[in-house]
Amino acid sequence: MVSPLLTQSFQSCDSQMIQRENISNFIQQAEFLLPPIEIKDEESGYNKNLFCIPKHYEEDLERVFIPHGVILDRTERLARDIMQDMGNHHIVALCVLKGGYKFFADLLDHIKALNQNGDKSVPITVDFVRIKSYCKDTPTEKMSIVGELSTLNGKDIIKTGRTMKALLSELKDNEPKMVKVVSLLIKRIYRSPGYRPDYIGFEIPDKFVVGYALDYNEYFRDLNHICILKERAKEKYKSNVRLLE
Ligand code: IMP
Ligand code: MG
Repeated sequence: MVSPLLTQSFQSCDSQMIQRENISNFIQQAEFLLPPIEIKDEESGYNKNLFCIPKHYEEDLERVFIPHGVILDRTERLARDIMQDMGNHHIVALCVLKGGYKFFADLLDHIKALNQNGDKSVPITVDFVRIKSYCKDTPTEKMSIVGELSTLNGKDIIKTGRTMKALLSELKDNEPKMVKVVSLLIKRIYRSPGYRPDYIGFEIPDKFVVGYALDYNEYFRDLNHICILKERAKEKYKSNVRLLE
């Protein structure tokens, strides 16, 4: 039995315009799962000077929003929840590039550790797909999906859910036995035509974040923590020319 497992680092709420206070309830009712860690709108994160940040990004970041260690700890628990639910299904893990690669790798490391040390284990195969739906921090009209969808399984971040919906509709054509979507982050966006993942790491305010493979115009993927950008950094990195300097 093969069960595709899609991992992504972002997703936002929600097609059914659920009231914010009912979101956690809805998730539990829908999937009998624990709600994600909720990061409140007023949460400002941490002083970046208290963490190790690459020198080349120091002046660009406002705050550390989710430290790397917290991301890994939460991912470890998601791995446990997934393995408990998967039964004896063979897992095809599909990573949605590029933003999902860190989460995908860390999630699979935790799943592999469970496979190695637990009473039962299931085979896992991996696959990768690339979706481009944003230009810098702005959604684009045209969404391109590059990759082989026959063995589907993972994604990076869900904001409105538009990207994930497109991917899932492609997936359906391959008639998988079961598809589960894992998203590290879900943005609280109340009136968007979103898609709700089966497993969610954190529910965050609708702020643009970077780091842990999430980018702004291809920058900041090489940053471990999930951080908030300074407005002036968007100006600085808005052109790809910097990549060539
Ligand atoms: P959606 O289609 O609106 O759900 O957007 C999902 C995609 O947008 C993700 O796969 C990311 O590539 C990108 N994205 C959305 N929000 C952010 C953000 O805050 N930081 C970086 N990328 C983002
Ligand atoms: Mg991007």
